Amino acid sequence: MMNIAFVGCGFVFDIYMRTIRAHPELNICGVFDINPKRMEAVKAYYGFSTYDSLDALLTDTEVQIVVNLTNIGAHYDVSKKALESGKHVYSEKPLTKDLAQSKLLFETARVHGVRLCAAPSNIYSDSVRTILDAVERGRIGRPKLVYAELDDNPIHLMEFQKVVSPTGAPWPLDEEIHEGCTFEHVGYHLAWICAMLGPAVSVVAASNELLRDKSASVPGLSGTPDYSVALLTFAGGQAARVSTTVVAPRDHRMRVIGDQGEVCADSYRHYQSPVYLERFTKRSLSARKFHSLRAHPTLGRIFGIGGRRLPLVKNWKSAAVEKDQQMRSSLKQRMVEWLRRREVYAQDKLVGVAEMAREIKDGKAPYLSPDFLLHLNELTLLVQGAGPEGIAVTPTTSFAPLGPIPGSIRP
Ligand SMILES: NC(=O)c1ccc[n+]([C@@H]2O[C@H](COP(=O)([O-])OP(=O)(O)OC[C@H]3O[C@@H](n4cnc5c(N)ncnc54)[C@H](O)[C@@H]3O)[C@@H](O)[C@H]2O)c1
Repeated sequence: MMNIAFVGCGFVFDIYMRTIRAHPELNICGVFDINPKRMEAVKAYYGFSTYDSLDALLTDTEVQIVVNLTNIGAHYDVSKKALESGKHVYSEKPLTKDLAQSKLLFETARVHGVRLCAAPSNIYSDSVRTILDAVERGRIGRPKLVYAELDDNPIHLMEFQKVVSPTGAPWPLDEEIHEGCTFEHVGYHLAWICAMLGPAVSVVAASNELLRDKSASVPGLSGTPDYSVALLTFAGGQAARVSTTVVAPRDHRMRVIGDQGEVCADSYRHYQSPVYLERFTKRSLSARKFHSLRAHPTLGRIFGIGGRRLPLVKNWKSAAVEKDQQMRSSLKQRMVEWLRRREVYAQDKLVGVAEMAREIKDGKAPYLSPDFLLHLNELTLLVQGAGPEGIAVTPTTSFAPLGPIPGSIRP
């Protein structure tokens, strides 16, 4: 059993809670939020204990891991205090908005003999495991190129101001606009790409703000990019292009192209998104020239376009996204969850905390090493800050290859 406490009870807190019943080994000691209304809402809904202050949470000797779900601007202070209090910390992404601060956090963790880990956790998803397993086993030949899309719909048309979580937390629209989609999202793709290909040795990137008036409360330009494109090169010569926007219609695809084939999945946000493997043949490649075969994927598959579906590589927590795992759910909520899991997305945000807890318990080095997390942090900051003129830089951080994702259960 690992005792954990949450700091920050906003919108994402309820997403973490969606899979809580899949993690009985995580014991929630209590929650804290500087906004007492949020804390009370969470207490009333889930029955969790609350703390009067962050200090009260940090002096609770029962608490082993602090899960930091505060706004990005508060990540550094909250994580630092928790680490200094001798608590392990699991932080939402990005770790901080300043690489020097992130380094200081890892140094603080080292000095106090505790661990710092961070989201995103989609690296532990069955889809990512299946893609990486196919690549490791040489099923696409040698990987050469990654195309990763993170288009999250034109934000100004989505009426996000109406979206609230089950405990009534509004989706933080203005915060998302001011922090920007790159800070918020690019890490989801960087994590699996870097786990697969190693550290990037070169970053060419540009970012820009393309949309005005993204919400009534943020008129004109916000000053934060809503579009970025990163071109990464890896030591082995492979390349990746990652696009992140809240301008283009939703597209979350992950594609890895090798010299013999391609492995792809429809969405990083669905932990069991079907994965397809195409071994290239002259026939499948030439078939793409035909409009009708492109326009009708089922027909195209007869000619090999898109390949065949791979059985998913699973893990100890796969069930988290296979059935309703909420603490409380009415029939209506269970039906909504079923539809969401099937059609929209299925994430287990707690799996990152569960993996961290297991590593601590087993005395194992963290799979997502501090150097890896710092590298993701640096790449995120570089891409967001690239600006319309663009950058071409060599990152200052690097990491030793992570190796295969532990705990994979092959079909
Ligand atoms: N909204 C999403 O869909 C989503 C998804 C994945 C990850 N995230 C990440 O989760 C984090 C939180 O996002 P959110 O959407 O829940 O934001 P939110 O604004 O809804 O909630 C953040 C909560 O943190 C509290 N808080 C801020 N500073 C604090 C402090 N110093 N001490 C205690 N509480 C504090 C706020 O009062 C608020 O209730 C961000 O890092 C975000 O990038 C959000």
